[in-house]
Amino acid sequence: MNTTARVRITVNDETHESDVEARLLLVHYLRERLGLTGTNVGCDTSNCGACTVLMDGEAVKSCTVLAVQADGAEITTIEGMSRDGQLHPLQEAFWANHGLQCGYCTPGMIMAAADLLARNPNPSEEEVRHGLEGNLCRCTGYHNIVKSVLDAASKREEVRP
Ligand code: FES
Ligand code: FES
Repeated sequence: MNTTARVRITVNDETHESDVEARLLLVHYLRERLGLTGTNVGCDTSNCGACTVLMDGEAVKSCTVLAVQADGAEITTIEGMSRDGQLHPLQEAFWANHGLQCGYCTPGMIMAAADLLARNPNPSEEEVRHGLEGNLCRCTGYHNIVKSVLDAASKREEVRP
């Protein structure tokens, strides 16, 4: 059966009304319908976290959310993190601390870290490691990722959201 539903989803401050198949995943809605390809798909088992976005301010794996479940929600993707041509402090910190190599995991890491810092603006190293344990990186050994998040936290007055 091919059921469609009308959804209204705000993505990076822009509201979109779309007819979507009931089975369409949020990650595919973002990538294919809206062309926001910064959100990656790294697995199909909800393990890797490459697809992490903020839904009403909370980090979610967008491969585990249906687009219809996001009806009425506010979504932030990596494309929505920079403002007025300025990188988000987390993006700056990943850049400055070599927190990425291939970059595949990076959008998801940054969105998960944004949620973490919103809940805990001054985390310990252990709390950062724990907060990011749902996000996998094949390249970095995590050390510089953790360093990046701690660096961004140290400048937390600038950290949104
Ligand atoms: S693609 Fe969503 S967790 Fe891997
Ligand atoms: S930088 Fe390559 S997967 Fe994390």
